[in-house]
Amino acid sequence: MNTHVVILAAGKGTRMKSAQAKVLHRIAGQPMIDYVLAAAAALEPRSTTVVVGHQADCLKAALAGFPGLRFVVQEPQLGTAHALLTTESALRGRTGTLVLLSGDVPLLSSKTLQTLVDRHTSTHAAATVVTAVVDAPHGYGRIVRDPAESGEQIARIAEEKDASSAERQIREINSGIYAFSLDGLFDAVRSIAAENAQNEYYLPDLVEIYRRRGLGVETVTVSNPDEIRGINSRIELAAVSRIMRDQKNAELMAAGVTIEDPATAYIDREVVIGADTIVHPGVSLEGRTTIGAGCEIHTGVRIVNSQIGDRVQVFNHCVITDARVADDVNIGPFAHLRNQADVRAHARVGNFVELKKTVLGTGSKAMHLAYLGDAAIGERVNIGAGTITCNYDGVNKNTTVIEDGAFVGSDTQLIAPVTVGKGAYVGSGTTIREDVPAGALAVSAGKQRNIEGWVEDRKKERGG
Ligand code: UD1
Ligand code: CA
Repeated sequence: MNTHVVILAAGKGTRMKSAQAKVLHRIAGQPMIDYVLAAAAALEPRSTTVVVGHQADCLKAALAGFPGLRFVVQEPQLGTAHALLTTESALRGRTGTLVLLSGDVPLLSSKTLQTLVDRHTSTHAAATVVTAVVDAPHGYGRIVRDPAESGEQIARIAEEKDASSAERQIREINSGIYAFSLDGLFDAVRSIAAENAQNEYYLPDLVEIYRRRGLGVETVTVSNPDEIRGINSRIELAAVSRIMRDQKNAELMAAGVTIEDPATAYIDREVVIGADTIVHPGVSLEGRTTIGAGCEIHTGVRIVNSQIGDRVQVFNHCVITDARVADDVNIGPFAHLRNQADVRAHARVGNFVELKKTVLGTGSKAMHLAYLGDAAIGERVNIGAGTITCNYDGVNKNTTVIEDGAFVGSDTQLIAPVTVGKGAYVGSGTTIREDVPAGALAVSAGKQRNIEGWVEDRKKERGG
């Protein structure tokens, strides 16, 4: 299909009251314009042009990861028709269909876009407008239909600020999403005037111009009006985020995931969760996170860009970022796994344990109050309460190696770089400064002294 996409994103987004460009505000973890780009990409267009203006450089930088995007700068921003005109030279010589999207309408599905293109091409229309019938049309352009044509044909679009009170009663609205035939498009857009309440060049005025010239203008009405919700304010941002999360939750539940309280499950779009996993209330699962089957993620847990295996229990209030957790592991409550923490099968990580760039081997345990950083811990190792890897000497990060089957007693400090050999024992309260050979016992505390009668003696000294 000979399709070109233009996305309008030059507006200031005044109503957001933000220092950040509106289309970069995030919905379920991603800038809202990413969703628009993803929907557009499904059309496999020959080109995609983004019209930027306000904060143009930030936007270009933020979208650098999308291959093949073209940017044109609209400066100053004189309205949506003016914005489209700025793409004229980028699209010179192109034929076929131009699909125009708004960067602030992120719920639009690729299915609706395909319907738009199909309708537009099969009817050979000059323009096709996506519309919706809504209960609260306030703020949107209204679709005025031609009574002479038994209400069939769209006659023009009346912007809220220019509409008569009768027109404001109309509940069919303009989504701001259109397909245009590129043939003669820019000449027609040039003929749009800015004689209206906002002194802006309104792209919707093209409908009336085409109809007067006897050209075909079609409409596609979406069955789910949520799809074309535009975001102009923080309240609308929250409302659209809610819809996005509801959609994600519904998909997951349909695929066999239990979400105890969908209202408080914050699960980003790209997150993958296996069947029979239970998500308790108040959980955040973010970024490129995958969670296996049969897991239980308890209240207050936040997991970001991490891979969790099957049958994993993550107890309350754990924070897991950029980590890997294998099958049959228990984590938490109150554990912190970060920066390449790698917990192998059947391991246990208990409360107030932090792991950073550390492998905790198969079947190993660190159940209470520990910091394990830059450590390679083997299989079936026991890490006692209060164990600390002293990995940082003020200049470098050093590695601690604890080999298979070792037992590290409580309140041990391991001053890296250091190795505890296979099956070795470290007595409680030991400061390990030198390697411990396999099978050895290491103790560093001095012999205990008891001073008999010391308490009574002190009392006497104080004259008691
Ligand atoms: C627009 C439509 C309205 C429709 C609504 C749907 C016009 C005049 N009105 O209104 O009929 O119901 O969308 O959401 O088109 N932009 C530019 N350059 C500009 C002006 C805007 O790039 O000079 C971009 C904005 O960044 C935004 C999009 O165009 O992404 C729509 O502009 P906005 O000001 O939000 O239009 P609405 O008032 O919502
Ligand atoms: Ca808008």
